[in-house]
Amino acid sequence: MQDRYHVPVLGREISKYLVKNPHGVYLDGTLGGGGHAELLLNSLESDAHYIGIDRDAEAIEFARKRLSAFQNITFFQGTFTQMREAVRRAGFETVDAILLDLGVSSHQIDLDSRGFAFRPGVRLDMRMDREETLTAAEILNSYDEKDLRRIFRQFGEERHAGRIARRVAAERQKQPIEFSDQLMRIIDACVDSRFATKSYARIFQALRIEVNRELNELKNALSIALELLVGGGRLAVISYHSLEDREVKNFFKHQENPCTCPPELPYCVCGKKPLLKRIKPFLIRPGRDEIEQNPRARSAKLRIGEKI
Ligand SMILES: C[S@@+](CC[C@H](N)C(=O)[O-])C[C@H]1O[C@@H](n2cnc3c(N)ncnc32)[C@H](O)[C@@H]1O
Repeated sequence: MQDRYHVPVLGREISKYLVKNPHGVYLDGTLGGGGHAELLLNSLESDAHYIGIDRDAEAIEFARKRLSAFQNITFFQGTFTQMREAVRRAGFETVDAILLDLGVSSHQIDLDSRGFAFRPGVRLDMRMDREETLTAAEILNSYDEKDLRRIFRQFGEERHAGRIARRVAAERQKQPIEFSDQLMRIIDACVDSRFATKSYARIFQALRIEVNRELNELKNALSIALELLVGGGRLAVISYHSLEDREVKNFFKHQENPCTCPPELPYCVCGKKPLLKRIKPFLIRPGRDEIEQNPRARSAKLRIGEKI
């Protein structure tokens, strides 16, 4: 039952690098099906506390059942940029470790009703939190052509962003674009059939990022996470595409070396001190065995930083 929701990625590595203090407070910003939570809770002592956040009510409900044997857990439905509030609600000020396992769960992709997948008959929804109002269909039917082009280019890194945006703007005059197959046909008309699947993936990714404001969420969450961690506390982030990973990599590098003084100055005058050190290996990827057992792990990249 549990694996049908989502198989946790890099579980062994997360337990190995994140658990320094088995009595500490752990914050999981992307609880999902509770797979990482279960692994971590099993390696923590009973006086540790786990705070699980997810913006998806179905995830919280599933994880609550899965983790019902544990007493030391607080659930919080909301975005991970509300981490401070979640920590305060659990009765704490700071935490010892934070995990962000970005993106969508297998459950969200596998259920047609959630509208993330490029399978025929799927209504284009893509909201992680179904209380929100903006859906992928709404974007396709209401955004200006130039805004569609921008999100396809910026969030999908799609070469044919302009052509696809133009076609969307023309097709929606005839009929609203509501279903995956309509969008796939538009993409088919704009790209070489050999590369169509890659373009579907890029355009669907772009819409998902826009619907859920994923990159803004990530950028804000990284700074908040650093504030909440105790000295020596660790932040682990698993990303699944280059836009997310770039954000995480740059944040870690910048926090490790925030000095803005010109290199020719013999000593630092800006006074900006490092707040985080990157933990080696700087980049952890799943091994071949894990990818064979769970192909969805193949694009995962894990980076870990420790607060100074
Ligand atoms: C890859 S899954 C996490 C799977 C989880 N680690 C497990 O082992 O089951 C990502 C989860 O993060 C949630 N999520 C994504 N962005 C979020 C955000 N900004 N705030 C809160 N939850 C978010 C999604 O709803 C999804 O359930």
